[in-house]
Amino acid sequence: MPDQLNIAVFASGKGSNFKAILEAIKTGKIQNAQIVLVVSNNSDAGAIDLARENNIPALHINRKQFETDEDFNSTLTSSLEKHCVNFIALAGYMKKIDPTIVRAFKNRIVNIHPALLPKFGGSGMYGMRVHEAVIESKEKISGASVHIVDEEYDNGPVVLQATIPVEVNDTPSTLAARVLKVEHEIYPEAIRLFSEGRIIVDGRKIIITKIEVKELKDEFDSN
Ligand code: GAR
Repeated sequence: MPDQLNIAVFASGKGSNFKAILEAIKTGKIQNAQIVLVVSNNSDAGAIDLARENNIPALHINRKQFETDEDFNSTLTSSLEKHCVNFIALAGYMKKIDPTIVRAFKNRIVNIHPALLPKFGGSGMYGMRVHEAVIESKEKISGASVHIVDEEYDNGPVVLQATIPVEVNDTPSTLAARVLKVEHEIYPEAIRLFSEGRIIVDGRKIIITKIEVKELKDEFDSN
């Protein structure tokens, strides 16, 4: 078994993806992980209330509370260290993660995006704007992507995707609601795969193994 995932969930809003991950842990779908911290830039975030209801430490922190980027990042990093965080899940977190944190958690930060990356991603593409752009472009298919976070917006390799049809009568909000449903399926599933040590990141390539990566290595070693 790989080390347990000690997850920090970063969320700016309602927190329904956070909830889906939490439920998957509570019901045993994800067994080798716990959420040790919730981070939000927004004190009104539903995610903060949900953390408190579940006795999960919640940190309200944003850049405006600090004089410099360095002060902000070092306070955030200290909190991640204090809670022994070894994995970060961005769940509707609308701020860019500083490169120092991306490097410190290389291939250990994931994000859920409400479209089929690499389409409809990048700076300014978040929340309802994504669905508006999908409808505007007359796409027939949309969906959700879980990807590794690197130093560019929505750029890291994709771990899992799920598709849904765009219906002719869809508005951005009806499409968003259907995409959110599949987000709640693939995000916990991706985290389960990480918790079981079954994801190998090889540059831009993601390999999902059938068994834990360490077991594979042991097999090779014994041959
Ligand atoms: C989700 O649809 C997520 O994909 C999106 O924000 C929503 C958060 O909902 N994230 C982005 O657009 C990031 N680029 P939630 O707070 O209910 O999980």
